Amino acid sequence: MLRAIVCFLFLCTAVQGSAVRNQITIRDGGYENLLIAINKDVAEDQTIVDTLIDIFTSGSGYLFTATKRRTYWRNITILIPNTWTPKPEYERARTESFETANVIVDAENPAWEDNPYTLQLGGCGVHGEYIHLTPNFLLDRENSEYIWGPMDKLLLHEWGHLRWGLFDEYHTEDEGSSKFYADSRGNIEATRCSTKLTGEALNINTFEQCQRDPETGLYEADCFFFPNLNGQTEPASIMYAQFLESVTDYCHSNPELPGYHNREAPNKHNNLCSSRSAWDVMLETDDFARENNPPFEEDIDTTPTFRLVQASTRRVALVLDVSGSMGTNDRLAKLNQAATQYLRYTIEDGSMMAITKFSYSAEIIVELTEIYNETNREYLISNLPNVPDGSTCIGCGILAGIQALKGPSREEDPAGGYILLVSDGEENVFPYIINVLDQVVESGVIIDTIAFSPQADPKLQQLSTLTNGLAFFYPDTANSTALNDAFTATVTSRSGLSTEVLPVQLYSGALTVPGNSPVSDTFVIDSSIGLETVLLFSWLDEPISVEVEDPDGVRINSSDTSQYRVDMAAKIVSVAITDIAKPGEWMFTVDSDSNQAEVVIVTIESKPTSTTEAPITVNAVVGSQTLNHRSTPTMEIYAEVRKGYLPVVNAEVTAVIETPGDATTFLPLYDNGAGADITKNDGIYSAFFLDVDGDGRYSVKVQVSNEGSTASIASRSRRSSGGLPLSPDRYTPTPTTYEPAEAFVRTSSGGVFEVENYAEPVGDTLAPSRITDLAVASASYESSSVTLQWTAVGDDYDQGTASYYDLRFSTSFDALLDNFTLSDPVTEEQVLSGNLSVIGQSGALESLTISVPTRGESVVYFFAITAGDEDENFGGVSNIVSASLEFIPLPTTDTGLEPWAIGVISAASVLAALAVVIFVVVLCKTNSSSKKVNTNTTKPNSDNEKKDGNVYDNSSYVA
Ligand SMILES: *[C@@H]1O[C@H](CO)[C@@H](O)[C@H](O)[C@H]1NC(C)=O
Ligand SMILES: *[C@@H]1O[C@H](CO)[C@@H](O)[C@H](O)[C@H]1NC(C)=O
Ligand SMILES: *[C@@H]1O[C@H](CO)[C@@H](O)[C@H](O)[C@H]1NC(C)=O
Repeated sequence: MLRAIVCFLFLCTAVQGSAVRNQITIRDGGYENLLIAINKDVAEDQTIVDTLIDIFTSGSGYLFTATKRRTYWRNITILIPNTWTPKPEYERARTESFETANVIVDAENPAWEDNPYTLQLGGCGVHGEYIHLTPNFLLDRENSEYIWGPMDKLLLHEWGHLRWGLFDEYHTEDEGSSKFYADSRGNIEATRCSTKLTGEALNINTFEQCQRDPETGLYEADCFFFPNLNGQTEPASIMYAQFLESVTDYCHSNPELPGYHNREAPNKHNNLCSSRSAWDVMLETDDFARENNPPFEEDIDTTPTFRLVQASTRRVALVLDVSGSMGTNDRLAKLNQAATQYLRYTIEDGSMMAITKFSYSAEIIVELTEIYNETNREYLISNLPNVPDGSTCIGCGILAGIQALKGPSREEDPAGGYILLVSDGEENVFPYIINVLDQVVESGVIIDTIAFSPQADPKLQQLSTLTNGLAFFYPDTANSTALNDAFTATVTSRSGLSTEVLPVQLYSGALTVPGNSPVSDTFVIDSSIGLETVLLFSWLDEPISVEVEDPDGVRINSSDTSQYRVDMAAKIVSVAITDIAKPGEWMFTVDSDSNQAEVVIVTIESKPTSTTEAPITVNAVVGSQTLNHRSTPTMEIYAEVRKGYLPVVNAEVTAVIETPGDATTFLPLYDNGAGADITKNDGIYSAFFLDVDGDGRYSVKVQVSNEGSTASIASRSRRSSGGLPLSPDRYTPTPTTYEPAEAFVRTSSGGVFEVENYAEPVGDTLAPSRITDLAVASASYESSSVTLQWTAVGDDYDQGTASYYDLRFSTSFDALLDNFTLSDPVTEEQVLSGNLSVIGQSGALESLTISVPTRGESVVYFFAITAGDEDENFGGVSNIVSASLEFIPLPTTDTGLEPWAIGVISAASVLAALAVVIFVVVLCKTNSSSKKVNTNTTKPNSDNEKKDGNVYDNSSYVA
C-alpha cells in the first residue's frame, strides 16, 4: 500500500514565481544544464539524491535509444535545499533556484498521492514547465515501480512532455478523450499507441469482459483496458505505456515499421497535435529540426555527470540608478517609495541586504547586513539614495552589487546572491553591461531587473534571462502599480530560500482621488491569511489621509497611532493591522488635501495565519519573453491559481497588461480547456493577448477574485500526465470533488515581455482558435443520431464570437483528417436539435444533435469542426471523434457474479486488493496470446482461467 504521506499542506506550496525557467541546452546531442531541485521542506534523506542519480543515469541510456541515438543527458545539477546538512561535496548554488528548476522534488497534496506529472501550459510542441516527483515516489521505489513500472523509463515519458511538448497517448479526463473508441473498421479499440499493443477490456470491479453501452456504442464506464504485461513485441509508445518491457520508442509515422502511430485514438496527444505522431512533433523542435543533433554513429558513454549544489540564505544587493534622468517625473521619489515598502514590510527577517547606487560611477551605501528588526530596516530605509545626478553606468552598478554581495570583508562568495537592478536609461558610461558579462557569469549572481520607463536599457531583460533572474517593466505612468508589484514579486515568488512565512499580495491598484472628495474601495480577507496585514498608500503631490473599516465596521484612522503611520519623507501612509485581520470584506477610504485630482498607489499584503494550511496563491506566467510580432501576433498569458497544489477553479481571473502605447488592457483568463487553455479545470487560467500596439515592453499583472463566490477548490489535481499505472487497478485516484472556496482576492506580477517587429494589422487576419475538445456526448442507433459537444472559440483566437462553423463528417477517418474540405458538411436538414448557425461566444458550451445517413453493423462516423470569422479566416481542423451506429442489445441482466467477485467489490481491505491484482495478472498471463479488443462479444473467461495460474513475478521491473 502507499506510504502515509507526511506533508503539511502549507509546507508543500513552494512553487510559484514568474522567473524564466532554467534553460536546458543541447550541444552535440548532449543535454546540458538540466536542473533538478529539492524543496526546502522535504525531509533530508540521501536516498532521494541517490535514486535521482541512479534513474537519470540509466534513463540517459534509454533516452539515447528512444531518440535513435541522437540525444542523452550529459550533465545534471541537483540543488540541495539549505535546510539539509551541508556536505563537502556540495558546491555553493549559483543561479540555480527551486522556482526555476526543470525537475522538482516536492511533496504533493495528500489527495493526489505520488503520481509523477509534468506541468504543461502551452500546446503541442511547446516546452513544459517542470516535472514533479514526490519524495515518497523516490523513496519507496518498490511500490512506485509496482504501480508505474521502471522509474528510468517513466522519466522518458515525462521528458516527452517537458522537452518536446508531447501529450499523453492514453485516455485522460480531458473532453474529447475517451478510453475506447470506434475505429474506421468498425471495431471498438482501446485508446493507445500503437494499436498493436495487446490487452483485455475488463470491468475493473468484476473483471468480466466489458459490455457495450447501447447509449454510446462504447463499453460501460467501469471498463478499462488492461495491457498484457508480458509477451508484447511492439516498441511504442513511451507516451502511452512506457512500463511495458518491449516499449522503448516514441510512436512514429512510418507505417512500414513497428511502433506506427495511431492517429485515430481520441487522446490528448492527437487532440492537441492534430494526430501527428510524437516523433514527427519531436523532429520539428529545435532539438532536431534542420538536421540538428543527428544520430551518433559510434556507441557513446551516456552516463551524465552530476553536480550537487546547495542553496544559501537570501542575500540581496539593491543596485539603484540615481542618474540625472531619475530626477524627472518624480522617478527617484517613486523608487524610494517602492524600496521603502519593500524594506519595511516585504523582505523577511533573516535575509541579508546591501544598498548600492550608480550614476557615472557606483558606490556601496550600505554593506551587506542581516535584517532582523524594525530598527535595522529603518536604518536601511534612511540610507536609500535621494539625490539624482550624472550619467548612467549600469556596468559600474552591477560590479558594485557583486562587491557588496562579497560582504564587508570582500572575502565571501557572491554566488547565489541576488542583485535587484533598477534603471531608467540607456547606459552611456564605460563599463557597459556587455563589458561585465564575464564577471557576472563568473560570480554566479542572479540579476533581477526593473526597467524603469520605456527609455530603460533594452539589455536589462537579457541580463535577467542570462542569470535566471526576474525581469519587470514599470512604464512610469501615473496609474501603474508595476514598480511596487515588481519589488514584492522578487521576494514572494521565491519561497524556496526562505524559512520565514512570506506575505501574499492581495491588492494592487491605482486610485484616482478627485480633489476634495474621498474615494473608497473594498478588499477581502479570507481565513487563510490575516497575519501582519498591511495597507500601503503612496502619493506624490499633496498629503492624503486614509480610513480603514473592518468587516464589523470598526474604523482605523490617523488617530490610531499604533496602527496608522504617515511617512512624510517617502510620502506613504501605512495601516499595519496589529491583530490577525478579521476575515470578510474590508473597506478603505482615501482623501486628499489637494483640490486637484491625485493618483494614490495602493498595495495590500498579508501573511498566512497557519503553518499547516496553504493559502490560495496566484502565479502569473507569460508564454515567452519576447514576441516577434511579424511571425506571431499573439502572446499567451497564464495564471495558476491554487491552494497548495490543489487547483482553484471558477475564480474570476484578469490579466492587466500595460502597453508601450500607454494602454491598459484588462484581459479575462479562463480555465475552460479552449483556446489558449489546454486543460479544463486544472486551476490554470489562460488567454491570448491580442492588443499589441507597438514595439517595446509590456508589463503584466494578474488579479484573482472570488468576490462572487463562484470558485471552488478541487480535492485533487487533475494533471494526469504522469504515465499510466501498469494495470488500471493498481492506481485508482479518488474522484475529484469540489469544495466551495470562501471569498478571496489575490494579485501578482507576471513580469514583462518584449515585442519586436510590430506589424500594423491590415484588416482581420486573426482566425478563431482551433477547437480541441470536440466530443461525442451520445450516439443512438434507435434514432440514427449523434450528439456532439465542444467549447466555442472566438472571432480572433479565443476572443469574441466566431461567425461560422464548418462541421463535417465521413465514414473514413483518413479522408476527414487529410481532406477535411472534401468531406461532407453537416447540413441544416441533418440538425435535430441545436442550430449550427447560432454561434456561442468564446467559452460557451456548444451542443448539437444530428441525424446520420445510415446505421448498422460496422457503421462508424467521424466528425471534425472548424470555426470561421466574418472575413473567412478559419481555425485549424479540430480533433476528430467517432461514433458507432451499430445496434447494441441491452446487456443481459445476469447477476451471477462469482462469490469471489462479490467479495472484492464489498471489501476494501488490503487483502482483497491484493487478490484482485493477482487475479488480473493471472488473466493477463493466461491470455497473453491475446485477442484484440473488438466488437465481437466474447464470453467471459472460463472458470479454469480464473483458478489456474501462478503468482505474477514483479521482479523484472524492480532494479
Ligand atoms: C556540462 O558539460 C560540458 C562539457 O563537458 C561543460 O562544458 C559544462 O560546463 C558542464 N556543465 C555543468 C553544469 O556541469
Ligand atoms: C485526399 O484527396 C486526394 C485528392 O483528391 C486523394 O488523392 C487522396 O486519396 C485523399 N486522401 C484520403 C485519405 O482520402
Ligand atoms: C438557425 O438559426 C438561424 C439564424 O439565427 C435561423 O435563420 C434559422 O432559422 C435557425 N434554424 C432553425 C432550424 O431554427
